[in-house]
Amino acid sequence: MHSAAQPAAQASPLVARKSQGLKGRIRVPGDKSVSHRSMLIGLLTVGRTEIVGLLEGEDVIATSHACRALGGIVQRKAAGNWVVQGVGIGSLLEPAGPLDFGNAGTGVRLAMGVIAGHPVIATFDGDESLRRRPMRRVLDPLAQMGAVIVDEKQGGRLPIRMKGARDPIPIVYETPVPSAQVKSAVLLCGLAAPGETTVIEKESTRDHTERMLSYFGADIVTEPYGAHGRKIRLKGRPELQPKKILVPADPSSAAFPLVAALITPGSDVVIEGVLANPLRDGLVITLREMGGHIEEVRRTEDGGETIVDLRVKYSALKGVDVPPERAPSMIDEYPVLAVAASFAEGETRMRGLKELRVKESDRLAAVADGLKANGVEHAIDGDDLIVRGKNTVKGGGTVVTHMDHRIAMSFLVMGLASEKDVGVDDASFVATSFPGFAELMRGLGADIR
Ligand code: S3P
Repeated sequence: MHSAAQPAAQASPLVARKSQGLKGRIRVPGDKSVSHRSMLIGLLTVGRTEIVGLLEGEDVIATSHACRALGGIVQRKAAGNWVVQGVGIGSLLEPAGPLDFGNAGTGVRLAMGVIAGHPVIATFDGDESLRRRPMRRVLDPLAQMGAVIVDEKQGGRLPIRMKGARDPIPIVYETPVPSAQVKSAVLLCGLAAPGETTVIEKESTRDHTERMLSYFGADIVTEPYGAHGRKIRLKGRPELQPKKILVPADPSSAAFPLVAALITPGSDVVIEGVLANPLRDGLVITLREMGGHIEEVRRTEDGGETIVDLRVKYSALKGVDVPPERAPSMIDEYPVLAVAASFAEGETRMRGLKELRVKESDRLAAVADGLKANGVEHAIDGDDLIVRGKNTVKGGGTVVTHMDHRIAMSFLVMGLASEKDVGVDDASFVATSFPGFAELMRGLGADIR
């Protein structure tokens, strides 16, 4: 794992070449959001939480280490099959050393919420990328709930030392940024508070925390708020009941083979078992608007989530205007959408991408640099990214990934259909969310070396 404590792991460059049509059936790894939550909510449940299909990426493994440090017994029974024996709400142990979350923003922010509701002191840390990311957005509401920030780097950066509250205060909190991580941190802290914790979001964000808490028996109610938002009310101190969790395939990982198939002539690919949550479906909606052939060939329900098999065929794409209110439902997919837009005919305008600046890298800048390196006409206008597609992409560039898995995977996808090879300087961070990415893509016929 890339961590705070260790020197940087060796960079691993990769190159993608123009490929023949991609063909086959694949399953991408488990959903990252659901995987982190299954560990942490399992920790807050007394008894045995069995998880099937867990994403065994570095990010989630870091969260599993943190759960152990907080008193949980976490065991890997088989590939993707894990068991968490939780301690229950109110009973966390004080971790003996710093909690190192590596590259994982979701892991660290959700764990801050969990710990803020317990009278323990913990130090949170991560790799260079995570140390650059803003934590104030989580620390502010948690401080209102009674957590004390003992130490932090300038501007609310890691490493951060926090003393959780013995008696957390239930609050009503309106999130200032559309962020499921902020919402989840407040709700997870609210689990340990007496009374009702309320989160209001003007833009609805992914609701896996709410769904999983409800599935485990918490009293949690969601109602619409304004035109695009939600109000979530959670009764504190529930007795969570352990249940089996089936983690569906991650739509944010499925996005890479999906776009690869759309832009590589002759492709016909089925991606199985993908999570189809309406708060995560912005990319599929947008690609269909662009003329992408994406067919749902099977739909099932499992553990409170809908799961679909998607059949994707090469398609002639056209540019579209992507409205800002769609951003939360596809926030991690803009880099690969920018790649799809590069192969489309005409202009694609992606509006309202401010949050992209505070991801694993400044993704707006990293995408723009990658497009430039590969001869794609584009512009940044305020918080909008405009890509002027011409059906073909020159390629030939080497993209700087800035410790960002999604930048690496997006531009490798670009290389499969561009005239010249596309390289990335370091694909090692792909293992944070999509272990086995290059092998899986090669199995479809992708030329990635
Ligand atoms: C996530 C929320 C999003 C997303 C991240 C996973 C989650 O972040 O980018 O990859 O699991 O809650 P924000 O909450 O910061 O938007």
